[in-house]
Amino acid sequence: MAGYILALDQGTTSSRAILYDDHARPIKMVQKPTTLQTPKAGYVEQDARQIWQTQISCAHDVINQAGLLATDVTSIAITNQRESIVMWDKQTGKPLAPAIIWQDRRTANYCKKLASDNNDPNNSMADEVQRITGLRLDAYFSASKIAWLLDNNPKIKARASKGEIAVGTIDSWLIYQLTGGAHVIDITNASRTLLYDIRKLAWSNELCARFDIPKAILPKVLPSDGDFGKTKKGLFAKQIPIHAVLGDQHAALFGQGCLEPGMAKNTYGTGCFMLMNIGNTPKLSEHQLLTTIAWQRTTSPNRADNISIGSMVQSGKRMLQTPNSTAGREVTYALEGSVFMAGAIVQWLRDNLGMIKQSCDIEALAQQVESSEEVVLLPAFTGLGAPYWRSDVNASISGMNRGTTKAHIARAALEAIAYQTYDVLIAMQKDSPHPLTELRVDGGAANNDLLMQFQADLLGVPVLRPKDTEITAKGAALLAGIKSGLYDDTTMAESWQVDRTFEPSMSSSHREQHLAKWHQAINRALIDM
Ligand code: G3P
Repeated sequence: MAGYILALDQGTTSSRAILYDDHARPIKMVQKPTTLQTPKAGYVEQDARQIWQTQISCAHDVINQAGLLATDVTSIAITNQRESIVMWDKQTGKPLAPAIIWQDRRTANYCKKLASDNNDPNNSMADEVQRITGLRLDAYFSASKIAWLLDNNPKIKARASKGEIAVGTIDSWLIYQLTGGAHVIDITNASRTLLYDIRKLAWSNELCARFDIPKAILPKVLPSDGDFGKTKKGLFAKQIPIHAVLGDQHAALFGQGCLEPGMAKNTYGTGCFMLMNIGNTPKLSEHQLLTTIAWQRTTSPNRADNISIGSMVQSGKRMLQTPNSTAGREVTYALEGSVFMAGAIVQWLRDNLGMIKQSCDIEALAQQVESSEEVVLLPAFTGLGAPYWRSDVNASISGMNRGTTKAHIARAALEAIAYQTYDVLIAMQKDSPHPLTELRVDGGAANNDLLMQFQADLLGVPVLRPKDTEITAKGAALLAGIKSGLYDDTTMAESWQVDRTFEPSMSSSHREQHLAKWHQAINRALIDM
């Protein structure tokens, strides 16, 4: 079977479209930047229309630039920045407010207050949220953002109770626009809203009531390879089916071939997200990590990837039925450590301090010195995520002296990315019965050799960088290709090839010195608040 998969990758700072051929090889990519607005301290917004317009124009351009026609495209795959929300008018499809982005902290105090609301010390609201959703009661997730929009717009709230408005994560918004009206969401994105019960596989009545969000405004939840509909007439020369939708980190886990429990990946994007496959039973973290739905897939005896694919065989399958489907649906769960600032630290050095022209210049600058000496950059620009979860901590650069140069700060910035990943890994090792034997990496900063070597040195396990580091879009494309019959087990196995393995080589005493310096800075910041 010949054909192409069109993957739409809507990230925090850009929209992208990538075409994959019938061997899951990327043949063309088009990228357009999107603008983040920060109208007030703690606010991070985007124009929802710009998100859609950049995404659809990338899709049209990539098909044209590849010299193809829409009729050559077998199916569309979508992957997206998670937790960010859009609210729109159900009739007109027009957004009612700017999209509130995952980095937005305006609801931090509201979440703090809710967490202490419950009088029962043995069952706090925070515990209840974790038990139902696997997440933390934090402004990072969608629920408090939706509640804020309703609470601060009485007219919208009145219309919400009449069922006249719709809300969704970015996948939901794109699908609504692509199909001309389907109000649906993929289950991985639903599992990031703080409103979805990851065991019952349904919106949680308790949490919708707690956040005062009418269930009528929420989208219908579908499996990651569910029937999301076809593009509306006139958008492309043919109506193209949408065959797979996954949150970006979930797509990366899939694309990295982490199909067995214990396999983990780390994506170095705006933030840094480490996910470990934990199989088909959800386990709540005892060390400040998140439990999330990695994906939910159709299972049928004929499904191509049910066949063993070398080391990528999935074990211990447990079948679950969704209430809205008679087909078998298999749910895979993951533990996640979400670090808010990774590539964004480098962007800050570039855009706010003008220290480098392009992000990739950071490596050469950092290499001008052999070490960061005593300099530590604590990148708490939007608070600290896993495993600290402190929205009140501020960013800082410490340990500078008269001889400190741009190069020391650049090196400290890269080290901060690796240190944060180390802290997440330690928490993950405590939570998981599976020892980590290697870490698969992707995302823009995975191409930085200095950072990857330092990462391997800190973690003490090999860091494996695949040839194709644009693994997020590829993961979604693979799932869509399997669903449409374009790809099979061989495609999946061949799509992941190692570019370079970074073996740990730092002495343990040197490593301990580095870690002590970092943890001193963290502890100081936590105590200072
Ligand atoms: O949870 C937020 C995450 O999905 C954003 O990813 O790639 O836009 O940094 P990215």
